[in-house]
Formats: sequence, C-alpha cells, structure tokens
Amino acid sequence: MKLILPDPLTPQRFLDEYWQKRPLLMRGALLGYTAPVQPEELAGLACEAEIESRLVLEKDGNHPWQARQGPFDAEDFASLPPSHWTLLVQDLDKHLPEAADLLEPFRFIPDWRLDDIMISYAADQGSVGPHIDDYDVFLIQARGVRRWMIHTREVSEDDYIPDLDLRILPTFEAEHDWLLEPGDVLYLPPNVAHWGIAQGDGCMTCSVGFRAPTLQEMVAAWSDELIRELIPAGRYRDPPLSLQRDNGEIRPDALAHVRSLLDQVMEIPAERRDRWFGRFITEPKGHLLVVPCDQPLAPGQFASRFEQAGELERNGWSRLAFIRGGEGYDYLYASGDEYPIPHSLAGFAEWISAQRRLPFSEALPWLRNPEGAELMARLHNDGHLQLPDA
Ligand code: SIN
Ligand code: CO
Repeated sequence: MKLILPDPLTPQRFLDEYWQKRPLLMRGALLGYTAPVQPEELAGLACEAEIESRLVLEKDGNHPWQARQGPFDAEDFASLPPSHWTLLVQDLDKHLPEAADLLEPFRFIPDWRLDDIMISYAADQGSVGPHIDDYDVFLIQARGVRRWMIHTREVSEDDYIPDLDLRILPTFEAEHDWLLEPGDVLYLPPNVAHWGIAQGDGCMTCSVGFRAPTLQEMVAAWSDELIRELIPAGRYRDPPLSLQRDNGEIRPDALAHVRSLLDQVMEIPAERRDRWFGRFITEPKGHLLVVPCDQPLAPGQFASRFEQAGELERNGWSRLAFIRGGEGYDYLYASGDEYPIPHSLAGFAEWISAQRRLPFSEALPWLRNPEGAELMARLHNDGHLQLPDA
C-alpha cells in the first residue's frame, strides 16, 4: 500500500512544507483502504483488559462530553444510545498484525517517531469534540463518512471546558470544513484544533499517531541515566583553602570550584548520550512490555528452528531503531534494550529494522557469522523475534 500524495507533492516536499507545520487534506491518498477490523471485532478488543480503549458520549446539556475508560463488556455496548458516541481503541498496530500494515505508507517518517494506530468507530454524529492534540497525526477515513472541521489559529494549552473528562475547546470556529470519504487522509500537525463528526452510522477512522517526549521528560530521563551510570562515585572535596574574612560567605573561588567540578563530571562523550537516546526513545509505553521468551534457545538450536519455520516475525510490541556508532559498533535498540552490532555484521541493523517478517533465506549471511547467530538468538530469547508457532 502506498500513500498517493496530491500532485506535485513528493515525500520530501511533504516533509519540507507540511510535516510539523501545516495541515494537509489528501483526497483518495489511500484509495481502496478498508478498516482492518469489523466494528464487532473492535468492540471485542475493547473488552480485553490489556487493550486501552475509551467510549466518548456526547449528551445534551452544558457539559455534553463524557469519557469512559475500557475494558468494556457486552452490556456496555448494548446500552449505548442510537447516536452521538464513539469507541476508540489504541495500539491496534501492536495487537493486530493486519492493522500494522497501515504503518507502511507512512514510513517516510522515521520509525522511532511513531506511537501507534488508533481506530475509532462512531455512531451517527459521534465525535470526541473540538480539541487539540500534542502530536502529529494522519487521520485515515476507513469506513463511512466523517465531517472534519479544523482551524489553525493559536490555541492555548489551558483553553478547555473545565470539569470534563476530556480536553474540549470552549469555542471553535472552523476555517476548513471537509467531508472525508473512505481513502481520504488528513494530516494534522500538533496543536491544530480539529473536530470530526460521523455522518451516518458505521464511521471508522484510523489515526496513525506519532510521539514526541516533552523536554522535561527527556531531561528527567537523561539525568537519571547520568546519576545511575555515568557520574563517578565520590564526594565533594575542597580545593586548597585560604582563610576568609566573612565565614558566612560562599566565596567566588568556591563557586568556581563547584562549577568546574559539575562541568567536569557532566562532560559525557557524545556517543554515550546518543546511546541513551536510542534506549529512551524506543522504550515501550507502560503496559506494552516485551516479555522474554520462556524457552530460550542456544544459537545453533535457534538457527535450525528458524530454518524449519522458514521465517521469523518481529514481535508487534517491539520498537526497533538503530544508530551508527563510531568505534567498531552500531547499536540496535529494541524497546529500550541495547544490542551492540559489530561492524563485521554491517547491514544487519538496517535489514532487521526494515521489515516485520524476516525470511530465513535473507538471514543466512548473518546466521553464518557466529556473532550474528548469537545476536539473532538473543533477540529471539528476549522476545523481540518470534518463531511463527511460538
Ligand atoms: C476520532 O477518531 O474520532 C478522533 C480522532 C482525533 O480527533 O484525534
Ligand atoms: Co484529535
């Protein structure tokens, strides 16, 4: 499946002119795309405890929007009104391999920026209200029709109706008003106000959402790493002291000593920071932890099981990315774990992170190298690569 950008846009021009900058409606960009789940299956997934889901209902009155968190049961669905509600299910790309196919058309954005695919099902007039999101999103109309209204005027983070379970903008005046039909795609950068209202029953919208940590989150995680791994043990020690007139003063020479001490211990080689970022940015969201395989295999055993199976699958929950290191290694990251790749395995990181299915025939060059066989077995044992029957 390919994203058909409106003429004369190319992926590079999209990145230059729209990504993180301006919204773009792409009519028929995924023409022929249909939702990877039926509405009943989506409701079924929303009944599972480990799958994140929400129901948003719009009632009459001053505070019309109400959100309920899943998991739900059949009774919850049976008691819904005929209109004005939406079911939203997160992380479908991880729970359903068919849903993950929708990531492919958007892979001109780096994998590590991706968060998840959310799918919504709405009854007639269902909407989650006018709001802004913190992240970039591609909204793919997969079934039925949705009216999307957006505006690009600045909206303050704090501008929402108080006492609701959702962030809903108190005022909304559309700048664009579009009807999206199956195959239409709307790209929205962060903080663009939007409001999508289902027109008729059975409206399904898939959201390919991206993630971006806050600067506070990055600094908190980096400081943690510094303290745990990188700052040497030891304690403050005085430089040679001279008598001071005012004993209460922290003198400029003491302050300068403290400054240079801190600068010195925090002077970390750039590659260490890059490697921290690889782990940090591939960390899974809270509950989507990759569980190590309960039958770890030695490299030889692993290679023969792989040969029998013919292919391996990447665990849908594993977030993979790599960086090119300097000194003899590249580094592969899988859901917060780091795997050093010696340069004798050049090309391995590119190969393994490019696709979710790995044919045995393509893996042969790596398996013939003992370091490659060991690495693949480790990735299997840690739960990132799965044999089809496992
Ligand atoms: C929806 O799919 O109903 C809402 C998606 C969004 O507004 O981000
Ligand atoms: Co939104």
